[in-house]
Amino acid sequence: MKLLIIYGTVEGQTRKICEVLRNEAKLSGHTVSMNDASGPNLSPFGFDAVIIASSIHHEKYQTSVEHYVHEHAKILNNTIGAFISVSLTAANDVPEGWKELDIITKDFLSKTGWHPTFVEQVAGAIRYSKYNWFKKYILRNIAAKNDAQTNTSEDYEYTDWGQVKRILTKIEHAVKESHSSEKVSS
Ligand SMILES: Cc1cc2nc3c(=O)[nH]c(=O)nc-3n(C[C@H](O)[C@H](O)[C@H](O)COP(=O)(O)O)c2cc1C
Repeated sequence: MKLLIIYGTVEGQTRKICEVLRNEAKLSGHTVSMNDASGPNLSPFGFDAVIIASSIHHEKYQTSVEHYVHEHAKILNNTIGAFISVSLTAANDVPEGWKELDIITKDFLSKTGWHPTFVEQVAGAIRYSKYNWFKKYILRNIAAKNDAQTNTSEDYEYTDWGQVKRILTKIEHAVKESHSSEKVSS
């Protein structure tokens, strides 16, 4: 299949997740184009499937991703698509956090008008060593709220790489199913 991956990142964890997906997809023989949503605008037209990934910062997805999805919603709604939401909240099972996550995701999808085939909530990372004091302070508070690590002398990666790889399998199944239903109806 022809797969397009579009991502929005600040500290690089979402890009890392997308790189793993790109490598897995290539190993499975798929053709992959990958782009930062803030880079050149690559239309989703002509792709069999699209993966769009964004991290959450201050309870919002990346503006570049929001613009991209809004602009291409019509084509995206006619293409198999996964939305990958990357956050610290997804690292743990704090019910309040998941309620917030659900609201943030629903708001994003209703604002942009996109109806992805499925949404995946993926845990991101805390890179205390890369933050200035202000970001460290913010992240410590978010971490405390979400039962994550508040010791700022270390970095923490919460991403479940097994879950990330299963996203590709889900996409492959969805594409296969859509091709076989096309055959039945033609
Ligand atoms: C300044 C800042 C604000 C953040 N705000 C949130 C937030 O509101 N909710 C959340 O669940 N995670 C939040 N996070 C955690 C990020 O989603 C997490 O670190 C993620 O791995 C970042 O991905 P990226 O490197 O692709 O940007 C925040 C992180 C930073 C640095």
